[in-house]
Amino acid sequence: MSTARNELIVVTGASTGIGAATAKELAHRGFHVLAGVRREVDADALRGPGIEPCILDITAESDIVAIADRVADDPRHRPLRALVNNAGIAINAPVETLPMAQWRRQFDVNLFGQIAITQALLPALLNSAGTIVNVSSVGGKVVMPTYGAYAGSKFALEAVSDALRREVGALGVKVVVVEPGAVKTEIAERGIATSQELMNDMPADQLARYSEVLDAVMAQARSFNETGVSAEAAAMVIARAVTASRPRTRYTIGRDAAILLRVSRFLTDRGLDRVVRLNLKRFAAGGNQPLGVGGRA
Ligand SMILES: NC(=O)c1ccc[n+]([C@@H]2O[C@H](COP(=O)([O-])OP(=O)(O)OC[C@H]3O[C@@H](n4cnc5c(N)ncnc54)[C@H](OP(=O)(O)O)[C@@H]3O)[C@@H](O)[C@H]2O)c1
Repeated sequence: MSTARNELIVVTGASTGIGAATAKELAHRGFHVLAGVRREVDADALRGPGIEPCILDITAESDIVAIADRVADDPRHRPLRALVNNAGIAINAPVETLPMAQWRRQFDVNLFGQIAITQALLPALLNSAGTIVNVSSVGGKVVMPTYGAYAGSKFALEAVSDALRREVGALGVKVVVVEPGAVKTEIAERGIATSQELMNDMPADQLARYSEVLDAVMAQARSFNETGVSAEAAAMVIARAVTASRPRTRYTIGRDAAILLRVSRFLTDRGLDRVVRLNLKRFAAGGNQPLGVGGRA
């Protein structure tokens, strides 16, 4: 471990994936990481030099208050160097079929939870001229069919990040958006399980309309665990954003994200429909199905 920096960093969603890797990378760089987890068993697995697990469900007001108190009452009066808003879930289903309670849950975790913890920790970040890193997604810029809720929450997180950056930049707080493409973590299998459950509850007419595209999206999600970059590689990008004195406003993670985001800037909506559709077609049963999504090919 490098020399202790006597600074705190809060990382949300640190039980697995990008959050766990980020907590470890930042601890390795000498920060004291308050690592948000939801279960004691995850806390026990994560605890180590420079990592202090904290029970933190970002949708629970009492947990938000507790982490703000933990930061404010740090026994060694260490400043809060950064907040990494990483916690997230993926709920994928067609707009028509996704129950409203699931829409709300998606936004509660991926957007309102991030806002709540940002509000709670902003006083400390203003004091320390700290950095907020919001983990968005390539889905915060380009939307696949069935990703309406997930991408909607990430588009909104991108917008809120832009507003916040323009509000607190002059006050010394840096706001950074990180946009990963495919990263090998738990999120793909968790998302597939959720999609599968939602499919089980769909009436026959909806299944007839959407099962083909859902199957293709799930096959594509499965492939992310082969083609994606490692959580450790993602953590290195986040650590760079945290430690830069003048970070960029946005960082992509992975070549897939960099290429897609660059290409999408030059395409019309119809052009992007076609790219998305052709890409998904590779994952449809038989590999060459018409896939009734995204307009005509
Ligand atoms: N992996 C990718 O390909 C990819 C691509 C683009 C963007 N991202 C984004 O990267 C971030 C991290 O995802 P990941 O890939 O590392 O997935 P992951 O392994 O599934 O990790 C998600 C983390 O979020 C936590 N979480 C879920 N609901 C929470 C809540 N209400 N309060 C606090 N924590 C909560 C989970 O905790 P539990 O274990 O307790 O559920 C877990 O620690 C997410 O924002 C995701 O949208 C990932």
